[in-house]
Amino acid sequence: MTTERIPREFIQQLLTRVDIVDFIDGRVPLRKKSSNNYFACCPFHTEKSASFSVSQNKQFYYCFGCGAHGNAIDFLMQYDKLSFPEAIESLAKLTGMIIPRERAASPKSNINPDLYELLSQVAKYYQIELRQSSLAVNYLKKRGLSGNIAKDFGIGYAPPGWDHVLQTIGKSATLKQQLFEAGMLIKKDDGGFYDRFRDRIMFPIQDRRGRTIGFGGRIIDKGEPKYLNSPETPIFQKGHELYGLYQALQAHRELQRVLIVEGYMDVIALFQMDISYAVATLGTATNAHHLQRLFKHTSEIVFCFDGDQAGRTAAWRALLVTLPIIRDDIQIRFMFLPDNEDPDSLIRKEGKTAFEQRIQNASTLSHFFFQHMGAQTDLSTTDGRARFVKLANEHLQELPPGIFQTMMLGELAKRARIDVAKLSTPKQAAKTSIKPKTARSPSSLRLAITLLVQEPSLANCITGPLPSLEIRGFDLFVRLIDIIKTHAITTTGSLLEHFRDTEEDKLLSKFAHLEHMIPNEGIILEFLGSIARLKKLANKQMIETMLSKAAQNGLTSDEKQYLHELIQEGQS
Ligand code: UTP
Ligand code: MN
Repeated sequence: MTTERIPREFIQQLLTRVDIVDFIDGRVPLRKKSSNNYFACCPFHTEKSASFSVSQNKQFYYCFGCGAHGNAIDFLMQYDKLSFPEAIESLAKLTGMIIPRERAASPKSNINPDLYELLSQVAKYYQIELRQSSLAVNYLKKRGLSGNIAKDFGIGYAPPGWDHVLQTIGKSATLKQQLFEAGMLIKKDDGGFYDRFRDRIMFPIQDRRGRTIGFGGRIIDKGEPKYLNSPETPIFQKGHELYGLYQALQAHRELQRVLIVEGYMDVIALFQMDISYAVATLGTATNAHHLQRLFKHTSEIVFCFDGDQAGRTAAWRALLVTLPIIRDDIQIRFMFLPDNEDPDSLIRKEGKTAFEQRIQNASTLSHFFFQHMGAQTDLSTTDGRARFVKLANEHLQELPPGIFQTMMLGELAKRARIDVAKLSTPKQAAKTSIKPKTARSPSSLRLAITLLVQEPSLANCITGPLPSLEIRGFDLFVRLIDIIKTHAITTTGSLLEHFRDTEEDKLLSKFAHLEHMIPNEGIILEFLGSIARLKKLANKQMIETMLSKAAQNGLTSDEKQYLHELIQEGQS
């Protein structure tokens, strides 16, 4: 939520205050392997032998099984599923440090923390009102809801009348203004307010951390609109939230699968029938934000749609949203319901087992994709196949390059009976042509970077000026040294923090756990040796440049002198 920038220096201090070993050990008990290294079974994937290692020196963890890695902040983000600022907040709390905020840069930053508190009061008020209304209780009973499930989801009732919330909660002008900001009141022309929700069953909408951020209100009998939702407010962005995600995450530490359904009542009915992994978008179509959020918590998403034409169209739209952001480790499937049923009605009719069987039978993305594309073209003619290939290929180019894209293109080629190589991919073509021509980084540079990443204090061994080298990766090496010296960095975890969300992060994390086989006492010598080799290389490069200049334009006498020195240096 907080959008102010947290100063880098503070993050560095924070990382030096926590010991990653103690910290992780509190959540995942670690076993000591050697003086500085600890092991456990990886909390991020299922395994029998311990491949999760935590290094005290490096203040860094790495799993040899699944590749999960990072510093204490990353651990919190992965293990507690927190966002970056949330992880910082949590660590700050733990160490008793107060986060200094740099100047607010975005309008979002003036979110009033009181709005959460206020809405939680409103939710409580509605819950109390529910108990007092036999009309509302009977309605919920008629719909098959148990008292327990109503409690789990905080269901309440907004009584008829124009000013219950206004009077009960809006006791001061400030509170009224805040209730208005939170979407609970509507402003009249004369400046006064009245309750937005009247005579409705109230479903509190909670964010991922369980804070109430808005409401959906259902009319008890017939009437328009059937559901009334909170408007967008500083704490409620409809297009980002998923109803039921909080409860699903409460019920499961890891969500094996998430089912996306349409309505509040669907999520609740499924939950009551022990399918506790359904979520609903809030009256909007599923978008990339929703999916990105779900990808953090699960590796399988099943969309649930009506079986009619409208449902198929909605499913296709969802598929198109998914294509550009899908990942190789994520499975997407599509489930279609029988006519005139929704998950609520269906699961009550046929029970959990039959419903789960339907989930099992849901179409894969690939199946649905080719079925839909195939239905639009005639594959028995050459023309039809050509059109099919063109259209399908255009969609498949949206996929990120990877195993899944390769498989889908393979499938397309098979179905259209053409050679997969003929499916030229514009994206890939562009990629190969912009490949940098700079020389590959030599092993000495890779060794120097590896050692530096694992042992940042080595930067202090470098005293003189660094050579200037035209090779890939050398800039990064120079930057690493600069960052280490400027921020007095001593651990891998702190160093990599500077590269969060950058292109280099992946490469550096790889170096962070690379087994270099150099015994501790030899590290400094190896490092200095690799620097010496880089200097030699720089010398050679410079000689070549000068020689080619000599061949083309000749050299001034100063330049001749310089070349002479270079050659002598190279021989020493
Ligand atoms: P449905 O009309 O399919 O309702 O709307 P439902 O979920 O089956 O509800 P019940 O069973 O009749 O109580 C599906 C979802 O679309 C949104 C709501 O999120 C609802 O749960 N919706 C629907 C609205 O936001 N406003 C409306 O007027 C109707
Ligand atoms: Mn329904």
